[in-house]
Amino acid sequence: MAQLAYRAEALTRTYGEGASAVHALRGVDLELPAGEVVVLLGPSGSGKSTLLNILGGLDRPSSGRAWFREAELTAMSDRQLTRYRRDHLGFIFQFYNLMPSLTAEENVELVTEIARDPMTPAEALALVGLEGRRGHFPSQMSGGEQQRVAIARAVAKQPDVLLCDEPTGALDSTTGREVLGVLQHLNQSLGTTVMIVTHAAATAAMADRVIRFADGAIRSVETNASKLRAEEIEW
Ligand SMILES: Nc1ncnc2c1ncn2[C@@H]1O[C@H](COP(=O)(O)OP(=O)(O)OP(=O)(O)O)[C@@H](O)[C@H]1O
Ligand SMILES: [Mg+2]
Repeated sequence: MAQLAYRAEALTRTYGEGASAVHALRGVDLELPAGEVVVLLGPSGSGKSTLLNILGGLDRPSSGRAWFREAELTAMSDRQLTRYRRDHLGFIFQFYNLMPSLTAEENVELVTEIARDPMTPAEALALVGLEGRRGHFPSQMSGGEQQRVAIARAVAKQPDVLLCDEPTGALDSTTGREVLGVLQHLNQSLGTTVMIVTHAAATAAMADRVIRFADGAIRSVETNASKLRAEEIEW
């Protein structure tokens, strides 16, 4: 079996206490091999973002354990989690979180300046097809272009894992397919492990592994024998 990117045992996450407590995760067990595209589906409020945030070292579970490779995330100090995020992860969210006063290239530079082995901002922007927009400000770009800048920013440090929460949520289907195509390309060319949380169930067709969530628990895990290219996905 391939090296594991993530492993989790009996993860729970409860917000609040007593009668008003929300059980966002109710015991999640997981094994995710490195190098896959994993798509996480499930209704709103089922715990998808909560799980992604725990694996991404942005949140801690109420109980249970999680590992990145051999390293136990749930045993790390805040400082160690920060280093883990910096050295290994790229994050992509529904809203692009670009700095409005900086150009596309400067937005990517914010990350490459502190990374260990980064691409140049120009290389990262070329990878997402935006070499012609380096000097543009976010307000001068379409939603899909802004999301591609956000992807360039996330991949410029050559992360081992890309964690994507609704990366196409604010995009039309054509632009969404393009953005998924970029993620697929990165997985195939650099071997990046890609986790995509989405409401767009059709995205499952491009995944190696599809995890369905309901009510804070994993309901099914399927592996795809054959995958579609992102351009072939029907929305
Ligand atoms: N900071 C918080 N405080 C209290 N409850 C929270 C908090 N964050 C999430 N929750 C609750 O935990 C549950 C799971 O939330 P989560 O964001 O993981 O769902 P999700 O599957 O990502 O949903 P969506 O598809 O709408 O993004 C929800 O019931 C939510 O209201
Ligand atoms: Mg969510």
